[in-house]
Amino acid sequence: MRRILIVGNWKMNKTATEAAAFVHNVARRLPASPTVEYVLAPPFTAIESVRATLGSSSTIQLGAQNLFWEDRGAYTGEISAPMLKDLGCRYVIIGHSERRTLFGEREDAIQKKLHAAFTHELRPILCIGESLLQREEGKTEEVLRQQLHGALAGHSLHSVTALTIAYEPVWAIGTGKAATTDQAVAAHRTIRAFLAQMWSTDVAEATRILYGGSVTPHNIDTLLRSDQIDGALIGGACLQADAFVTIADIAQSIGARQ
Ligand code: 13P
Repeated sequence: MRRILIVGNWKMNKTATEAAAFVHNVARRLPASPTVEYVLAPPFTAIESVRATLGSSSTIQLGAQNLFWEDRGAYTGEISAPMLKDLGCRYVIIGHSERRTLFGEREDAIQKKLHAAFTHELRPILCIGESLLQREEGKTEEVLRQQLHGALAGHSLHSVTALTIAYEPVWAIGTGKAATTDQAVAAHRTIRAFLAQMWSTDVAEATRILYGGSVTPHNIDTLLRSDQIDGALIGGACLQADAFVTIADIAQSIGARQ
């Protein structure tokens, strides 16, 4: 049984002060749930204030939006896995399409970042997804398989047990045009088939696959009803406390029914 995972990716939004106010408002409205996990991924500069506001017994876990693969050294502007661990992060987003397109992140970098996350026992959330053109050309499956292969080749079976994959079609991110449940389910099946082929059916069945791209309180219910969609990676809607709490409530009611 895969536990539902709801991840808020704040991207480059909220100062440390704004982040603390948000979390103060939201944390007490999210009851612990055996069937749903919550993660917030603030900008690096707000991780500490979110941690301090949440305290040690919170139902919300911390994630980061990126990392660098070396542990320390002359890498101006970068943040390492041990630094994130020390701040209390449990998860880290890797290979987000904004990193790929705006910052030129390539597969070899993504592979090394995954390795660093596994080594330091951070749980990576690997993002993959096709562009609109690729979808229109009927290349979605091929692109997903290429991205999975590029990121995961060379990783051991032992390390992938901590892996989560987020299917985020580029055309759905921040556009208000979410994939339909059928489109998401088809992509998730492709991803699971790849994992089964690369490692085993057990790994494929155990790995959580999230959907991301214009998820809102209005469409989360339909998406999570599919047993192929194990949660969501959410941008814009997670910046508003009420929307985040509504999404969490819906996830809980679906989790309780499963
Ligand atoms: P939106 O939910 O704003 O479309 O962003 C999705 C995303 O990129 C999450 O990582």
